[in-house]
Amino acid sequence: MARKQLLLLFTAFCAVSAQFPPYVEDCRHGTYPPADAPYRPVNVPTYQINLDLPGEKRWTELATDKAQEMRDLIAVIKSLVNSFSGGLIIDIVDRDLPKLMSGLPDIAVAEMTGIAQASGVPLGEVYLYNLFYEFNALCTSIVSEDPSGEIYHARNMDFGLFMGWDVHNDTWLLTEKLRPLVVNVEFTKNNQTVFKGVNFVGYIGIITGMKPQKFSLTVNERYSLKGSGLAGILKWILGTHTGNWMGFLTRTVFETVDTFSDAKNILSTKQLIGPIYFILGGVESGEGAVITRAADKALDIWNLNITNNTWYILETNYDHWKKPLFIDDRRTPAMKCMNTMGRANATLPNIFDVLNTKPVLNKLTAYTTLMHVKTGQMETYLRYCSDPCWPW
Ligand SMILES: *[C@@H]1O[C@H](CO)[C@@H](O)[C@H](O)[C@H]1NC(C)=O
Ligand SMILES: *[C@@H]1O[C@H](CO)[C@@H](O)[C@H](O)[C@H]1NC(C)=O
Ligand SMILES: *[C@@H]1O[C@H](CO)[C@@H](O)[C@H](O)[C@H]1NC(C)=O
Ligand SMILES: *[C@@H]1O[C@H](CO)[C@@H](O)[C@H](O)[C@H]1NC(C)=O
Ligand SMILES: *[C@@H]1O[C@H](CO)[C@@H](O)[C@H](O)[C@H]1NC(C)=O
Repeated sequence: MARKQLLLLFTAFCAVSAQFPPYVEDCRHGTYPPADAPYRPVNVPTYQINLDLPGEKRWTELATDKAQEMRDLIAVIKSLVNSFSGGLIIDIVDRDLPKLMSGLPDIAVAEMTGIAQASGVPLGEVYLYNLFYEFNALCTSIVSEDPSGEIYHARNMDFGLFMGWDVHNDTWLLTEKLRPLVVNVEFTKNNQTVFKGVNFVGYIGIITGMKPQKFSLTVNERYSLKGSGLAGILKWILGTHTGNWMGFLTRTVFETVDTFSDAKNILSTKQLIGPIYFILGGVESGEGAVITRAADKALDIWNLNITNNTWYILETNYDHWKKPLFIDDRRTPAMKCMNTMGRANATLPNIFDVLNTKPVLNKLTAYTTLMHVKTGQMETYLRYCSDPCWPW
């Protein structure tokens, strides 16, 4: 089985290399509001998560409604993992992971326990599922400032690289299973929305979120030879509990902090278990930053800065001062479209056009989110990329 999958993967790569370089199209215009085929964007449902409830009860409605979709996704993850490990890893996950994960915040354990109960997915697999997002998201995030000082924040979430290429219809198995799990979540206290996120059902952290009138945040994966997210997770499992999980740290920031600068400070300084990019937006002129994180510190903070003519900051999955990997350059086409658009035309609909241009839009893209913190506007669309389309 393992050999067959590797062969399929290899075949897919060859097929892809044959049309090298990546399929790049001209910057698109006028694609917002998103219409129908061939892009087939779909709005996603909204759920409330009541933070006044005990942890075990918060996600019950959502995890019950989407139990089947969660089980479908986890079945794909299991078959992929099993095909490489002969069933060993999933046995360990089901039997031992809950014990190995001791040291997580109590509230996180309570929430994941509630999700396991409501969905019927074993607790160890809910843990695995939450771990997954710590090191697996390829993305494009943009924060921009228009001439009147309005700040806009938008992102594509690309997820599922190397997770099973389906040769029958040229799609990523995992990405296909993820789309039905995308939901808007409104976290409430005293019956009022405190902050909002876009989540894959079952995940309790925040990788796309906004606190209306305060700040917005997107998280992009960062790969580093000096300590990857995966290595950090293994260290955690083996007992070194010094760093914060990215997803729980971002949840904490949304629950406890009310200003752009406090959020920036925490996200720049707290110890993490692995490297990551935090892309933060705010409401005032200059409130935008890409924080390039190593586990122990910020390596660089790139600020929105009109004085310096930096009217937008754009992060994919490579340090902004280095060249992107040549086979995965979404940055150059995205920047080209931003520059063509120009600051005077930097509106959310026009930024949507940029995120809708291949290969910024690719076969891993699960959703696009647009945020305007000042008005509290947050919109999410499921995305599909029709052929010809680059796989990542
Ligand atoms: C591709 O095929 C898989 C299963 O073979 C299916 O789950 C998925 O929905 C298909 N995707 C599209 C875009 O048709
Ligand atoms: C929460 O607010 C909604 C709408 O404002 C209202 O219908 C509902 O009764 C409120 N619930 C509680 C528990 O206060
Ligand atoms: C000014 O902008 C350039 C180009 O974006 C950037 O490389 C540089 O770091 C910025 N300087 C400051 C002080 O922000
Ligand atoms: C903005 O750019 C100016 C000019 O390069 C620089 O002096 C200033 O420190 C920058 N501000 C920030 C917050 O980076
Ligand atoms: C905005 O874009 C339109 C066409 O896309 C262009 O005609 C117009 O000049 C742009 N506005 C500014 C102020 O650059």
